[in-house]
Amino acid sequence: MKKVAILGGTGNIGEGLARRICLGEKFDVEIGSRGAEKAAEAAAGVCTCLIEHNCTCTTCTGGTNADVCEADILILSLPFERIESTIETIGKDCFENKIVVSLINPMIRNPQEKYFLPDAPEEGSAALAIRKMLPESAKLVCAFNNVAANKWMLLDEELDYTVAVCGDDEDAKKEVMELVASVSKLQPLDAGPLAMSKVIEGITPLVITIAMRNKLKDVGVYFK
Ligand SMILES: NC(=O)c1ccc[n+]([C@@H]2O[C@H](COP(=O)([O-])OP(=O)(O)OC[C@H]3O[C@@H](n4cnc5c(N)ncnc54)[C@H](OP(=O)(O)O)[C@@H]3O)[C@@H](O)[C@H]2O)c1
Repeated sequence: MKKVAILGGTGNIGEGLARRICLGEKFDVEIGSRGAEKAAEAAAGVCTCLIEHNCTCTTCTGGTNADVCEADILILSLPFERIESTIETIGKDCFENKIVVSLINPMIRNPQEKYFLPDAPEEGSAALAIRKMLPESAKLVCAFNNVAANKWMLLDEELDYTVAVCGDDEDAKKEVMELVASVSKLQPLDAGPLAMSKVIEGITPLVITIAMRNKLKDVGVYFK
């Protein structure tokens, strides 16, 4: 089975992602963290949860972000401002020839008027900035950006959304679309080149604003 590593996998999104990908039983999962012990604890939590859901065929393990980089697909599940230092700490070489997934949406909140706005770096999107931080041979793909955060952890509920996937390497994009399709009822859609991340990352602040202002739960995106 191919292996997916989630860097920052101990966070809000990361642990839910780990649960969901394991539950799909198509990929093994490794949780990455700055601390090996913290990662091992999170992985043990995922395994316990999976057993409760009668899922025993996949494994979930943990290690430092550097340890887990030998996986086939590396998901960056960290706040955008932590990415550059994390890549430096791990070592750029670890990303050579890897498929790297970004689900990162930089945004700012206006607390008074209750809305969120995209807060893209000068490159136009987090993904386009991260592309510059990685070695040439790394294949960066955007996916999972717009899935409602709180739904990841609730394994009794299906994730029934479409997922825009964009990237410049067609083979890498296809592999990531297979990963997306392995999760619950998510439907991957080819959203074109990595430059489309400028739009995809901007959808999440819109979705959160709509949810907040209209008192809606679990607002998601469904292209049809
Ligand atoms: N919330 C949403 O609706 C949503 C939806 C889709 C995508 N996203 C994106 O998903 C990404 C992850 O979000 P999240 O809420 O899961 O993040 P988070 O919980 O705040 O952080 C994720 C992990 O980052 C690591 N981290 C924290 N500070 C660090 C530092 N200074 N250096 C290195 N690592 C550090 C921590 O892992 P360790 O302490 O274990 O190292 C932490 O568990 C974000 O980029 C966000 O834009 C969010």
